[in-house]
Amino acid sequence: MPLFRRREDLRSAYGPWALIAGASTGLGAEFASQLAAAGLHLILVARRADALDELAASLRKAHGVEVRTASIDLAAPDLLARARACAEGLEVGLLVYNAAYSCIGTFLGQALEDKLRVLDVNCRGPVILAHEFGGAMAARRRGGIILMSSMAGIQGAPMIATYGASKAFDRVLAEGLWDELRAEGVDVLACCAGATRTPTYEASNPRGKPPMIMESGPVVSESLAALGKTPSFVPGMANRAAAFVMERLFPRSAAIRTMGKATRKMYGV
Ligand SMILES: NC(=O)c1ccc[n+]([C@@H]2O[C@H](COP(=O)([O-])OP(=O)(O)OC[C@H]3O[C@@H](n4cnc5c(N)ncnc54)[C@H](OP(=O)(O)O)[C@@H]3O)[C@@H](O)[C@H]2O)c1
Repeated sequence: MPLFRRREDLRSAYGPWALIAGASTGLGAEFASQLAAAGLHLILVARRADALDELAASLRKAHGVEVRTASIDLAAPDLLARARACAEGLEVGLLVYNAAYSCIGTFLGQALEDKLRVLDVNCRGPVILAHEFGGAMAARRRGGIILMSSMAGIQGAPMIATYGASKAFDRVLAEGLWDELRAEGVDVLACCAGATRTPTYEASNPRGKPPMIMESGPVVSESLAALGKTPSFVPGMANRAAAFVMERLFPRSAAIRTMGKATRKMYGV
């Protein structure tokens, strides 16, 4: 799979507008930056309006693209109406669902509301936005959707069980849509990222550094290059090797225990 896609190709395949859900920091801000550099206009969605506005101003200045911002909680009951309103009249050719919510610790020790919020942000949100924007893309027979999944979704993930399950949902949703929507001219991809240096990752206070941490830049450029070429993928050679071992070589029980051991060690839980 080529690791690089020409910027002008991205714009002609997925322009003129891209909507990034969860765009104010981390991987979402990196998607915004790389897509703006490719000449796509952007709708940036997250909760923090000030962070979105600052990013929007810098992208307009650096790349001369149009950037709109919308302060929306992706867990909001009226998400569909709010997403529709922020994109009204614009042709959204690319949807990136990047935001996620996670809680770390034992399943029974976590509040039920926290676990349900994981489902709202990580599962309900992608279904609603893929339904809304995927439908319009299919009608135009052109577009792309990237759902951020995780290596935590490759097998059961003790201590982050609900988050891991939500990321498996994102991957399997994207894979199903990859086949359904390619007949309609729409490319769909799940990015099963491994540990990536982002503000959210750093704020989770991991003890020590995982051996294979990636920067946001290559995770995003590999995702944009993989869109349209495969249903789901793991960024980074070392992560791909680890995923191969966990998914194909280890018995399922060993993969789950390995994941649990690593998470307990990383978070002291
Ligand atoms: N970083 C990693 O190590 C790693 C590893 C594997 C997979 N991933 C996946 O990669 C994606 C991005 O991860 P990340 O580390 O960049 O951080 P993240 O915390 O998952 O996402 C950060 C972005 O999402 C927004 N966001 C979070 N909750 C939101 C909500 N309820 N409504 C609206 N916006 C919301 C945040 O902005 P506001 O706070 O302003 O709302 C921020 O812009 C996630 O899907 C994650 O599961 C990350």
